[in-house]
Amino acid sequence: MRFTHKILINIVVIVVILIVFYAYQINERQTAASLTGNSVSEKQIIINELPNKLHANKQIESSVQWVSHKTTHSIRKQDEYNVWCIFTKVANNSPMKRKFERFAVSLISQSTVVIKLHLIVDDSSKTLAHEVLRSVKKLTNKTFEEFYYNVNNLAEKLQDIISSMQPHFSSQPGSYYSDALFFLSLGLHRIAKGQTRAIMFDADTRILTDIALLFQEFEKFGSSTLFGLAPELSPVYRHILYTYRSKYKNTTFGDPVDKGGFPGVNSGVIMFQFDNIRKSEQYSDLLRPESVRNLSSKYDFKGHLGDQDFYTLIGMEHPLMIHLLGCEWNRQLCTWWKNHGYQDIFDDFFRCEKQIKIFHGNCNTAIPN
Ligand SMILES: *[C@@H]1O[C@H](CO)[C@@H](O)[C@H](O)[C@H]1NC(C)=O
Ligand SMILES: *[C@@H]1O[C@H](CO)[C@@H](O)[C@H](O)[C@H]1NC(C)=O
Ligand SMILES: *[C@@H]1O[C@H](CO)[C@@H](O)[C@H](O)[C@H]1NC(C)=O
Repeated sequence: MRFTHKILINIVVIVVILIVFYAYQINERQTAASLTGNSVSEKQIIINELPNKLHANKQIESSVQWVSHKTTHSIRKQDEYNVWCIFTKVANNSPMKRKFERFAVSLISQSTVVIKLHLIVDDSSKTLAHEVLRSVKKLTNKTFEEFYYNVNNLAEKLQDIISSMQPHFSSQPGSYYSDALFFLSLGLHRIAKGQTRAIMFDADTRILTDIALLFQEFEKFGSSTLFGLAPELSPVYRHILYTYRSKYKNTTFGDPVDKGGFPGVNSGVIMFQFDNIRKSEQYSDLLRPESVRNLSSKYDFKGHLGDQDFYTLIGMEHPLMIHLLGCEWNRQLCTWWKNHGYQDIFDDFFRCEKQIKIFHGNCNTAIPN
């Protein structure tokens, strides 16, 4: 009698533990914002939460596909080191492949944290990317994780955003597919389900330091900060804002940072506070076609640089949404504007006297060794 009683109690205890654990797990998934310790393997959450369609199509793979149930650990979600990069339309032997390898080696070799590398690829570049990362693994002898996302699937999911932006920030509106790439970052929060924060890099960057230091910049974000970007180091937005600036003579939009101005931002390095982005009704309103049209017309703004045009407008209209990084985190090297009408003031924009942490070889500029 006593014996069965004991067994019964044990069963009840086990059932209660299972229920609590299940509820906790559900709760964990629903509140990505949760700061509490996470006893479920992070990887599993990420894989479970990847878009079903992609997952079913095996468009997403990982070199270390599943983490076993036994390797549970208690890393806070906040401590995730998600890095995103677009790697599409790359042929074997192309300069892009070498740039990507240089980027990946510079990122992985100096990192003191385990990076989750999320790559947006197409069918042909996926094989190349995986090949490059195998050699990076050999070269650096470091642990990292890789995840692949098919660009066509993502473009389909973000169609609304892309068609909002395209008329205003695209050099040749009409080529839908290639345009999609330039606007993906604006909807990354919908793709990166289960992630609380991430940093996206152009593949033509080279990192000179431990990337964990850049992740520390998230600590400086306010409760309504959505993105972190460094200033644009050319007068391109002074040029684009020409009409607005002649109407509003005392504006500082289009002036260099040194002179107390806002020169716009560059999207070679973008930090995402996904929780804040997902919570922000204001941001999702801003993405609607009518808002983008209004904002562009308010500033007489016709851009051609994709997502960074929109981040620049947000930086002007809603400065609290953007954390402005120091120029050392995205030291652009393109000097095109110097020879195109802005010789006199180019250096006021281009100057960056900090110790460089990330080089960005934009407009195909070579990165110094
Ligand atoms: C690679 O790292 C592992 C441990 O992290 C070590 O045992 C091994 O010797 C290293 N190999 C090389 C070639 O450095
Ligand atoms: C700019 O000048 C206008 C009047 O021309 C004034 O209303 C406005 O407050 C000024 N703005 C700044 C930032 O000084
Ligand atoms: C856009 O501008 C029009 C005309 O000024 C205004 O009626 C409308 O409410 C604005 N819409 C948004 C979303 O800002």
